[in-house]
Amino acid sequence: MSRGDHNRSDTSPTVHGRIRGADADGEPTTAHSPKLGLSRAEVLAWLREDDPARLDDLWRAADDTRRRFVGDGVHLRGLIEISNYCVRGCTYCGIRAPNHGVERYRMGEDEILACARQAHDFGYGTVVMQSGEDYGIETDWLARVIHSIKHDTALVVTLSLGERPEADLAAWRAAGADRYLLRFETSDADLYRRIHPDLPGRVSDRVAIIKRLQELGYEAGTGVMVGIPGQGHETLADDIELFRGMDMDMIGIGPYLPHPATPLGQLAAGAVSESGATATDQVPNTETMTCKVLALTRLVRPDANLPATTALATVNKSDGRVHGLQRGANVVMPNLTPPEYREKYEIYPDKAATHETVEATQQSISGLLAALGRSVATGPGGRRHSGH
Ligand code: 5AD
Repeated sequence: MSRGDHNRSDTSPTVHGRIRGADADGEPTTAHSPKLGLSRAEVLAWLREDDPARLDDLWRAADDTRRRFVGDGVHLRGLIEISNYCVRGCTYCGIRAPNHGVERYRMGEDEILACARQAHDFGYGTVVMQSGEDYGIETDWLARVIHSIKHDTALVVTLSLGERPEADLAAWRAAGADRYLLRFETSDADLYRRIHPDLPGRVSDRVAIIKRLQELGYEAGTGVMVGIPGQGHETLADDIELFRGMDMDMIGIGPYLPHPATPLGQLAAGAVSESGATATDQVPNTETMTCKVLALTRLVRPDANLPATTALATVNKSDGRVHGLQRGANVVMPNLTPPEYREKYEIYPDKAATHETVEATQQSISGLLAALGRSVATGPGGRRHSGH
């Protein structure tokens, strides 16, 4: 894509239009109304925008909208990577089942409870238990762990355990789990199928699972990777349309980061066109592109909880997290996984904070928030129960 390849005046809104369009106070609305946010055409134009000065306007509009709708508080969610076993073969992910180079682990109940207590002691409102799709995590066992966390602490419990059957999701909800994260990764059905092989006899439909999660009473989160080989700008605009249409509480957006031990990671850059996208329309997996998606998502879903993701902090180690927080994000997920497991949970290489202690991570995040003039938000930090 080159800089002048779209006609800005046709499709880009004025900055004032956007800022006014994001106002909740009932100011006169423009075509970019506060409720509906930007049109798809405008989103697409912004995805193709490369002028740093204009992008500064986008960052400002997203930051302003974030402040108006969810405030300056940043919710800290403690991440516990409870198992790196996985039955799936997602072609981008380092812990995919066929990667025999991974040393597998599954945390014990006591280890998980110790991490949860640490989250509680740090004053976090939420713990997120994440794993590969691991059926060694037995339904009743995890229900007990959830129950113990809810019994011992006031923590909100979020799960991110892949495409588990509905009976499992229902049992964990009954045990007290509050939220579930499942990214749809891309709205392009062909691309999704290429990078995400089905299990035998089971067609993967993550959007349908997310709807079921909502019906079960979970707050639901989703998200995408930015810059997957074969992902074009139109597809990304469709992803944002899907965010607009789904009543999502949380939306995680991170750059795709190639892992050398995966089929997708072994694709040479030139092979991208073979995987479906024209070379000119391929979305780059850069920090800026990821921030564009984040900022636009804030403008179409002003009250959602949007993390500055670890992948964003990885693609730009010095400033990725700060940029995320300044361009729409209001959540950070510090990693509480014990050090001996962290480096084994390598979904992509060189993950930020892999070799940091939990205390160091906690300190660096507090320091960063203080420097930005942002506070640590207290309480559970749910979207639908924001009064807590
Ligand atoms: N690069 C970036 N993100 C990845 N994820 C998995 N593998 C990668 C990768 N190689 C993301 C997926 C998944 C989330 C837990 O991590 O979006 O949903």
